[in-house]
Amino acid sequence: MGTVNDTALNKSGRNESGVAPGKSGAPSDRAAATEPAVRLADVAVRFRTKRKDVTALSEVSLDVARGEFVAIVGPSGCGKSTLLKLVAGLLAPSAGEVALGGEPVRGPRRDIGFVFQRAALLDWRSARRNILLQAEMRGLPAAGARARADELIRMTGLDGFEDAYPHELSGGMQQRVALCRALLHEPPVLLMDEPFGALDALTREQMNVELHRIWRETDTTVLLVTHSIPEAVYLADRVVVMSPRPGTVTEVIEVALPREREYAATLASAGFRSATGRIRELLGAAGAHD
Ligand SMILES: Nc1ncnc2c1ncn2[C@@H]1O[C@H](COP(=O)(O)OP(=O)(O)OP(=O)(O)O)[C@@H](O)[C@H]1O
Ligand SMILES: [Mg+2]
Repeated sequence: MGTVNDTALNKSGRNESGVAPGKSGAPSDRAAATEPAVRLADVAVRFRTKRKDVTALSEVSLDVARGEFVAIVGPSGCGKSTLLKLVAGLLAPSAGEVALGGEPVRGPRRDIGFVFQRAALLDWRSARRNILLQAEMRGLPAAGARARADELIRMTGLDGFEDAYPHELSGGMQQRVALCRALLHEPPVLLMDEPFGALDALTREQMNVELHRIWRETDTTVLLVTHSIPEAVYLADRVVVMSPRPGTVTEVIEVALPREREYAATLASAGFRSATGRIRELLGAAGAHD
């Protein structure tokens, strides 16, 4: 896996509040700095199809602070992916309000990063050119984007594989390319929907360690959906446990672990065991989890 790169992204691209530089000082920015990075207020989502109506989410309220790492766990079909789509502006709530940095989400947001369960890379583009796709689609200046891509490639230990095509990369490497692509434009908010679900257990552990380190270095706000309770607790500051559909927030678990988390020691710690135990208890009635 990759080595720690001292050129942390917050040093190169962000000020201390985690806000992209350039506009700081404007009144709206000052107001936004005190707002949660993500706010869901009494949100409901109802899908109406020809066959039936489904209430996916009901009365969901959640504030995520800037720079916080929040994991979401819950039974299949409880609305986790739906929740991420609301935050991304890919879906409008049937009731309630969704806001990013105090600004209501009214449509697809460009200032987020999204990592899906499958890497969804373009087969005919090299790793680097898959990462740079983000910049091309946004019309970002090429030189800056290339420098940033190289920095991410180093951070995720992909050096030496920049020119490899997706079929020449392992599943974990492909997922790292997808992560680099999602981080290229330095989004203040990163949304991840079961990003490591398709990986073997060992690679998944390595990716967890990698992601946690990148998060510490970048101060990005992360919302991660996962079916793995250990993954949620290892990575997150707080774990949101959801009920079966219609999904609502059953409990939010504060993870009492230090910011620096050595993997084996963390898993053996009392804080880890108590958090995973509580989540298992809450999900027990709702179905099997890892
Ligand atoms: N576009 C849609 N049209 C109709 N129903 C939908 C749509 N998207 C999701 N649903 C329904 O909403 C509910 C929640 O779906 P969602 O994908 O958010 O669940 P999930 O918690 O992510 O599940 P999983 O853990 O299996 O990924 C499901 O019952 C699903 O059938
Ligand atoms: Mg889902």
